[in-house]
Amino acid sequence: MAEAGSFADRVKQQADIVRVIGEYVRLKKSGQNFSGLCPFHQEKTPSFSVHATKQFYHCFGCGKSGDVFQFVMEMEKSAFPEAVRTVAEKCGIRVPEPRERSPEQRRENQQRAALVEMHRTAATFYARTLNSTDEGKVARAYLEERGLDDETIARFGLGYAPSSGDALLRHLKPKYAEKLLESCGLFSRDQSGRLYDRFRRRIIFPIANEAGKVIAFGGRALGDDNPKYLNSPETPIYTKSNVLYHLDRAKEAIRKNDFAVLVEGYMDTIAVARAGIANVVASCGTSLAEGQIKLLARFSRHVVVNYDPDTAGQAATERSLTLLLEREFDARVLALPTGADPDKFIQQEGPDSYAKRLREAPAYLDYLIARARAMDRSTAEGKLAAVNFLMPYAQRVPNRLLRSELATKIASELRVEEPVLREALRRAIAERRSEVKQKPELIAPVVRPAERRLMQMLVEAEGFRENLAQRITEGSYHKGLETEKIFDALIEAARSGSRPEPAALAESLAENDRRLLFEILFESAPEGTWEEAESCLSALKKRQLEHEIAELQTRLAAQPSPTERREIFTRAQEVRKLLGELQ
Ligand code: UTP
Ligand code: MN
Repeated sequence: MAEAGSFADRVKQQADIVRVIGEYVRLKKSGQNFSGLCPFHQEKTPSFSVHATKQFYHCFGCGKSGDVFQFVMEMEKSAFPEAVRTVAEKCGIRVPEPRERSPEQRRENQQRAALVEMHRTAATFYARTLNSTDEGKVARAYLEERGLDDETIARFGLGYAPSSGDALLRHLKPKYAEKLLESCGLFSRDQSGRLYDRFRRRIIFPIANEAGKVIAFGGRALGDDNPKYLNSPETPIYTKSNVLYHLDRAKEAIRKNDFAVLVEGYMDTIAVARAGIANVVASCGTSLAEGQIKLLARFSRHVVVNYDPDTAGQAATERSLTLLLEREFDARVLALPTGADPDKFIQQEGPDSYAKRLREAPAYLDYLIARARAMDRSTAEGKLAAVNFLMPYAQRVPNRLLRSELATKIASELRVEEPVLREALRRAIAERRSEVKQKPELIAPVVRPAERRLMQMLVEAEGFRENLAQRITEGSYHKGLETEKIFDALIEAARSGSRPEPAALAESLAENDRRLLFEILFESAPEGTWEEAESCLSALKKRQLEHEIAELQTRLAAQPSPTERREIFTRAQEVRKLLGELQ
């Protein structure tokens, strides 16, 4: 994040993390570190530590960690540049004017600015078409029928794309280069290569970024045209998974009320916002994306999921819950009666009734338990199916204590004996661990002391850090370890010679690896000696060889051909010899 030599880097060098964090958390010195009550989760005894010399914080309870900027971003729900500014100001460092950028960056910025301008022009064009053309009248009648008055239409910037096929094109063409017209997502090409309007005969919903700039559109068919909704494609200014509809208007309310209402669609958002609940956003597709969750996390970690009460909506709710839990959100679920999406419900039952249901929305676990209880649990299989439905959620809760509380609750609600349930949970976690590697590991793997020490030495050992990185790479000692990714990151940093910066390293790592890295680096560790490093390496070498023996045995058990058998024996002998040399 803080690039070497950048302003952010300078601020980080000069800022005292203990002082900055000390403004938010009452810190007490303990050993060479400082500790206090974690500001990111509820606790009675301090498990939040700040490492003064390594300049990072870590909570042993909830696992949050990072450098001074990450702390401020999290506390202030601000973006990186703002956090740098905040820290600089707190520490009395002068903030410079933005620097000149590289020509390439400048070109990209110009392109983006032009695309944003095109979208603004297009939004105005669509709105005008809705309000002052004959074709627009039909669309207005449709909106009116759906309960949207002029004020709402204006407030949400709704528009209409005419059916002609090139009305917008003709409007924008004189002002913009072909290349821009092509990349803005507002046009498509026909078979002869000619551009034409992407949105035709559709109600237009402008989609804005967090700053309120229109960057894309959603278009609803007037009649029964397919697809019902057509959205902008991804463009240089629009990445679907990083945008939440209405966030620009909702963010203050989300921050203030400390929760967001999450709905599926444009019409739902508008209905909920009109009901006086401003803190509503839509994922606009069914399921929530990782990037959208991160975006939301900057404003609040509490969310009420209110997707459509159909099967697709239920599935999307459950998928979204999984992701929200992994990100340690506190989620509730508002499940409306069948047939009513938020928009319809509010139309039929009124805003007060909706607000009441929202207040009473159950915690996600109660929602899920209710779903599990609705399953047929009269047989042992049925009971197991209900447990298996709940398990994936429980196992995704990163915090061990919370996970354990969940198991107890599930057991009592489903009337399953707790030990049985705990065993199922344990198994589920173990299975998850052996799942494909790309999935983020959530349960801390067992890390051998040798691995731990090597990781610490890759950071601490001023004298031989580079050599050590070299040796590990040559011997591939870390390959196949659960900590392989962490090693890769440390090695890459150590090979440059300078001292690896934990918080910067952590950025390339998955959540679980990040935690592990911080936990390991938090142990106060001596610099170490080359002899110690050697002995750690041989411990890993030993593991590798033992692993290989086990593999050879498996191959042998599979009744190989005589030639292969011989090969296996020869290799096994070699490996045993190497092992002997290590003892
Ligand atoms: P819905 O089908 O529930 O639409 O899709 P809706 O918002 O209730 O719309 P109305 O009330 O029928 O007009 C929910 C959301 O999923 C996305 C849109 O963002 C929509 O608002 N969607 C749906 C699409 O992107 N494409 C589609 O074809 C359908
Ligand atoms: Mn709907």
